[in-house]
Amino acid sequence: MSLKVTKDQALGIVKQYEQVLAIINKYNKEKEQLLSILLDIQCASGENYVAEEWAEVVARELELPISKVHDVLTFYAMFSIAPQGKYVIEICKSTPCHVTKADAVVKMFEDVLGIGLGQTTPDNLFTLMHTNCVGACEIGPVAKIGEEVYGNLTAAKVAEIVNSYRGVSSCQK
Ligand code: FES
Repeated sequence: MSLKVTKDQALGIVKQYEQVLAIINKYNKEKEQLLSILLDIQCASGENYVAEEWAEVVARELELPISKVHDVLTFYAMFSIAPQGKYVIEICKSTPCHVTKADAVVKMFEDVLGIGLGQTTPDNLFTLMHTNCVGACEIGPVAKIGEEVYGNLTAAKVAEIVNSYRGVSSCQK
């Protein structure tokens, strides 16, 4: 019979579990701190998401129904329940940006990052995605990274933007 989890994987899970408990304890298990706790867990995950098992630990430790934790994770756009890059680059595909060549911008990011739309760079730093109008149509074509919106994009600007995020150590929130 072969074990499905290797020793290294098991040790990794234990380490992550301890990390999750430490984050919850840092906030004194306060229910009001649910958002901050989930953000810290997402940041510490290394893959910018909150895994289901850690959502369950949060629910148990904070004595909240798991549905409440799920509600928060799915309501706020800043959370992900699937692995993604530390920085999610969202390129607007709505009509005003589309006519100002948003497709070309996708290609520019793909060239600079060496990945396709919907993919994550091997270093887990960037995920490239489409999004709908972010309300900055007058400076289209537009890309959004976290809360930052970048407009009037050119190949040079795209390279500059990507480089500005490399080596930044803080977690995207
Ligand atoms: S259509 Fe792209 S920002 Fe509005």
